[in-house]
Amino acid sequence: MFGCTGETSKEPASPKTTQPKPEEVALSDERRSVTLKFGKEETAKSVSIGELVDAHGLESWSAYDSYYKKEKSWKSIRLLPVIKSMFKLNAEQMRTKSFMMRASDGYSVLIRGDQLLEDDAYLAVEDNEHPDWELVGEQKANPGPVYMIWKKPEHHDLHAWPRPWQLAHIEIATFEEAYAKIIPQNIEEDSLAAKGFELFKHNCVRCHAVNRQGGRLGPELNVPQNITEYRPEEQIKAYIKNPLTFRYGSMPAFEQFEPEELDAIVAYFKVMRDQKFDPASESESDTNSDG
Ligand code: HEC
Repeated sequence: MFGCTGETSKEPASPKTTQPKPEEVALSDERRSVTLKFGKEETAKSVSIGELVDAHGLESWSAYDSYYKKEKSWKSIRLLPVIKSMFKLNAEQMRTKSFMMRASDGYSVLIRGDQLLEDDAYLAVEDNEHPDWELVGEQKANPGPVYMIWKKPEHHDLHAWPRPWQLAHIEIATFEEAYAKIIPQNIEEDSLAAKGFELFKHNCVRCHAVNRQGGRLGPELNVPQNITEYRPEEQIKAYIKNPLTFRYGSMPAFEQFEPEELDAIVAYFKVMRDQKFDPASESESDTNSDG
């Protein structure tokens, strides 16, 4: 400390070759050029990771990851400031919104504004120990180039705190806007089907569409045919409880579901059987009608 006083004399500063800027927290041009889309499909704006890093900084840290089930170290961008500036929202406004996170593999998940306000969501843009990313999950997916993660230990639960990988597009949407067509009409609030819909909404819609709305990782379950039209009920319930006893795929097991919950999901499917909506079927019959 004492030596410092002498060094702050008027001598020209020597070139600081020995003290590089925190270059270890920098990204390659290739990574900087990856883009993310923000906003509704028609008017979405593409922004590069490089631009986001320049505006909001890059943070290097490590924490437990629920998919890898171990400590992982990332270069990442804090998501909250990105969302606030891209959608021009303050905290108050964010609390009332949800955000649809769309992945390039077809997965999509709605994350609430109040979850993002916890300010521990990050966009991981580089795996510090695996420059080419470490493959993850049963299906050995590559989570890059943008993997959304949460930092706090209380956010390890993958259902409540989803971690979409291959994140490509972020959109503001209320659940009702994004998924209007999967909401069952004309049913009692305390019916089995209503309960099934709640379960579907929280556990399934991120991978499955009903009436063409929802995730696309798993098969559409209502159009053109409803799942109950070609699969026996018992089989549907057994499948949901443990898909891997049928085929090696990427659907997680829902072993925790009680028989009544499985009945509720099937009841929801049966209600939707009579509430089909398929925008594609109209245009299809148009194009096929010239014979
Ligand atoms: C992480 C994504 C994912 C989630 C979450 C998910 N599924 Fe699936 N589901 C799939 C995929 C992918 C398939 C295709 C077969 C496979 O990989 O197991 C599938 C297949 C199915 C099938 C069989 C369809 C057929 O015709 O064989 C049913 C029924 C089904 N899912 C229902 C559900 C229900 C109900 C839920 C919620 C409780 C759910 N799934 C949650 C991904 C998912």
